[in-house]
Amino acid sequence: MQTSGAGSQAWRSAITGFDRQRIFTKGVPIEELMRWGNFGDVVFLLFKERPPQPWESRLFNAVMIASADHGPTSPSTLAARVIASGNRRALEAAVAGGLLAVGDAHGGAGEEAMQVLHEGLNRIAETGAAPAAVAREIVQRYAAENRRLPGLGHRFHDVDPRAPVIWTMVRDEHLPAGPVELMLALEEQLRIEKGRLLPVNVDGAIATALVCLGFEPEIGRIAFLIGRCAGIAAHALEELTREKPMRIKFTYTYDGPQPNGKSAQ
Ligand SMILES: CC(C)(COP(=O)(O)OP(=O)(O)OC[C@H]1O[C@@H](n2cnc3c(N)ncnc32)[C@H](O)[C@@H]1OP(=O)(O)O)[C@@H](O)C(=O)NCCC(=O)NCCS
Repeated sequence: MQTSGAGSQAWRSAITGFDRQRIFTKGVPIEELMRWGNFGDVVFLLFKERPPQPWESRLFNAVMIASADHGPTSPSTLAARVIASGNRRALEAAVAGGLLAVGDAHGGAGEEAMQVLHEGLNRIAETGAAPAAVAREIVQRYAAENRRLPGLGHRFHDVDPRAPVIWTMVRDEHLPAGPVELMLALEEQLRIEKGRLLPVNVDGAIATALVCLGFEPEIGRIAFLIGRCAGIAAHALEELTREKPMRIKFTYTYDGPQPNGKSAQ
């Protein structure tokens, strides 16, 4: 569709078009997507040039579902609840605020995890090195730089139940095993380096799936945001409808200077 008028600028976009009768995304009519697709398929289509194949649909929907919620203790859902606790009139403020808590430590590590996987897979392809050797190199480099490996470690889980589902789906769909082998090799080399298991978390699992699906690394962050938006909204709404305003209280200790100049004990 083209619009013009006095002072209007010519924008362009290749995502969704419409005219008086039709709406279509990447050329696919909205009616078709509504009748035959599902939400994951539409998200896939928005970021790719075509609708997913059935195996891509299953794997991408697993990514969306894995990201959707992890209860009220995640930084994003907690932030949304705190905002809803104080601002009782704007559900959207709580949802938007919750999304702002997603980042490198929470839900945003998928992008860097995909970069690590791409780097490692390229190294394996170019040199023929074993995944374990490439993973050791990457783990040791991160350790030397005092950085955390993205996609590994979890505050609550010994094994994140979302990761093995991705591994079996990749196997059952007969996809190339390289990305899963490398991610598991990173987990194993980090276990050796740290002396304890830091399991592949949701960011690492979805990063692996998204590499299998041929997405660019930015989608590692975006896919989590899209999925988790649903969970954040549910928590914000529950806080508004089920809890009293300003219910959030916690103890803290002031350890700054006292008014009389004495330091705190
Ligand atoms: C998710 C995360 C914040 C959980 O942290 P946690 O369980 O509270 O772990 P802690 O902060 O108590 O760290 C425990 C130890 O493991 C190490 N560690 C934890 N995750 C690590 C990782 N991904 N890479 C390297 N070391 C890691 C810490 O450095 C620390 O080591 P130390 O005892 O020698 O100081 C943490 O694992 C992390 O930062 N992971 C990388 C980012 C990521 O994938 N985020 C997505 C989460 S879904």
